[in-house]
Amino acid sequence: MSRAERLFDRMGEPLDPDDYDWSAAADSPVTADEVFQLTYAAQVEWATEGTFESLDITRDPTVSRFLRIWLEQERVHGELLDRFLNQTGVDVTLLHREPRHRRGARRGKRLNQLAHRVVGDDFFAVHMAWGAVNELTTLRFYQVIRQRTSNPLLSTILGDIIAQEALHYAFYRESAIERLDGNERAQRITRYALTHLWRPVGLGLRCRSDVDRLLGLLLAPKPDLVRQIDASIASMPGLASTRLIESELAAVTIRAAA
Ligand SMILES: [Fe+2]
Ligand SMILES: [Fe+2]
Repeated sequence: MSRAERLFDRMGEPLDPDDYDWSAAADSPVTADEVFQLTYAAQVEWATEGTFESLDITRDPTVSRFLRIWLEQERVHGELLDRFLNQTGVDVTLLHREPRHRRGARRGKRLNQLAHRVVGDDFFAVHMAWGAVNELTTLRFYQVIRQRTSNPLLSTILGDIIAQEALHYAFYRESAIERLDGNERAQRITRYALTHLWRPVGLGLRCRSDVDRLLGLLLAPKPDLVRQIDASIASMPGLASTRLIESELAAVTIRAAA
């Protein structure tokens, strides 16, 4: 059994919304920045439905099994954040169910199938490394929000979500390393895809200025955290000296000055 497959036993069930005392949501104030960040997060978590549709292109039993666990857990993350915001009087629009995003998911699936035909199974090295970057950044986003919040219920919910994101990250990372290790072609393709095509989670669902605002709030004030994220990504085979998040933040600064 591979290191990634061994993680299945630790992944557990989706979180249970009935485990939380929702009446406590409005006990402490939620800031405008938190509403923005959590709305973004809820929409992206729910949109895993579309991301799953675009990526469910293989019968590989390990990838296929993980994607199903991942979809169910992410969907409940969306539900929890959505419900928390609702309890504080904020309605969340589920953007991914809009026709243009549904069309986008179907187009994404065709593109991924085409990419798989062109590059073969090295496609999944890209998929797993890309997933690792997204899970790690999501995990760090939630940790920053949790460190700053004064709302105990939000802190509890985020603590539980963070534990699952950490396992998602571990699975993607271990799978990526297995596929990249000793495979120079997979390393070249993955490095190209991440440095040329990767964009922060949620871009497309939300507009560029919202993505820039999110990065400005959560990562721009934390250069040490950015270096740590980039170093974790760069420690996967073939990705040495990449600085994905630092480059993204530099682009945000250039756009803000324009
Ligand atoms: Fe999640
Ligand atoms: Fe996740």
